[in-house]
Amino acid sequence: NSIYLEGLGDVRPGLPTDLTRLEGLAEGVLSAQAFGYVAGAAGSEATARANRAAFDRWRIVPRMLRDVAERDLSVDVLGTAMPAPVLLAPIGVQSILHPDGELATARAAAAEGLTAVLSTAASHSMEEVAEAAGDGAPRWYQLYWPKDRDLAVSFLDRARAAGYTALVVTLDTFTLAWRPRDLDRAYLPFLRGVGVANYFADPVFQRAVGGPVTGANRQAALLHWVANFGNPSLTWDDLAFLREHWDGPIALKGIQHPDDARRAVEAGMDGVIVSNHGGRQVDGAVAALDALPAVAAAVGGRACVLFDSGVRTGADIVKALALGARAVLVGRPYAYGLALGGQAGVRHVLRCLQAELELTLALSGLTRPGQLTPESLTSAPVPA
Ligand code: FNR
Repeated sequence: NSIYLEGLGDVRPGLPTDLTRLEGLAEGVLSAQAFGYVAGAAGSEATARANRAAFDRWRIVPRMLRDVAERDLSVDVLGTAMPAPVLLAPIGVQSILHPDGELATARAAAAEGLTAVLSTAASHSMEEVAEAAGDGAPRWYQLYWPKDRDLAVSFLDRARAAGYTALVVTLDTFTLAWRPRDLDRAYLPFLRGVGVANYFADPVFQRAVGGPVTGANRQAALLHWVANFGNPSLTWDDLAFLREHWDGPIALKGIQHPDDARRAVEAGMDGVIVSNHGGRQVDGAVAALDALPAVAAAVGGRACVLFDSGVRTGADIVKALALGARAVLVGRPYAYGLALGGQAGVRHVLRCLQAELELTLALSGLTRPGQLTPESLTSAPVPA
């Protein structure tokens, strides 16, 4: 109840505690291009809507008189201790949203002890972000697997050296999808002013574009980035390459079919992230929450199952955990927090989510995330 007695404390930058209102507020402070980049999704945005609708089809069934005085939200995820089962999803080029971009996000996550996953397409380099987060702040690295193998190895070596402990490999975005909001607003030319620091700061990348990226070769560097960004030829056999070059835990992001989850386990992957990239890649794709139960069943405890796409509230987190996720990643809500309040805005979002999760769990009769099972939910209007 401390949240009612003390409010959200000194970090509250005047933002609403109903995080679903942040999108509308962010639209008021961002350019049309920047807002479209975050809020937009693929095609008709049917999958983005389906991600939300899927949560509405499940209801929590609260249980009473269960002594929920002592609560503990902490979990261990791929060797990282987390105070709550919430991570910050990788989001690229965050300086579009706030000049401090990923630095602000990393600081806010560190202040809460939560793990931020840094995108390969970040606007600040992984070394700068690690320094901003500070020693001991948990951090994971998300790989966009480039065509150039030497560049991929260089990313992994740098991430390890900068203290990123787990690797998230995003499989669903070897190319940007059909995103009308970005296409209509000439998104890539827009990026010219931002830059993708992990690439521009990379020695292998710099060799390929003939030296450090300056005004003179910036256009060529951006074109080289676009050409190299993803590799559509990759297959399951290529996962051996990752294992060879990364000795920490690896989670595959973008898994939506139980057979793919099984293959990930067979390939020795440590985790899968059930995700459709927030509906940004395949319009008409299955809602991520609808894909979760079958993936969790296929994995059967042999690897860690994580989830993202559509999480907006503490209750959403309860539902995803009940359907088989060990923890969730949150995307757009903290991006809007960043746009509206920089580091304090991100922290506001993280505090609200954790507090609402704790209250919802306790009021449902549970004290720990691990107690959630499918029996905690019902898909019918009235419990059977
Ligand atoms: C993303 N996402 C993403 N994923 C990734 O692996 N690397 C990236 O660079 C990005 N960039 C990115 C930018 C923006 C603006 C958004 C909204 C999303 C996907 C992200 O990690 C996550 O899967 C979704 O955001 C989850 O859905 P919600 O929480 O936004 O609904």
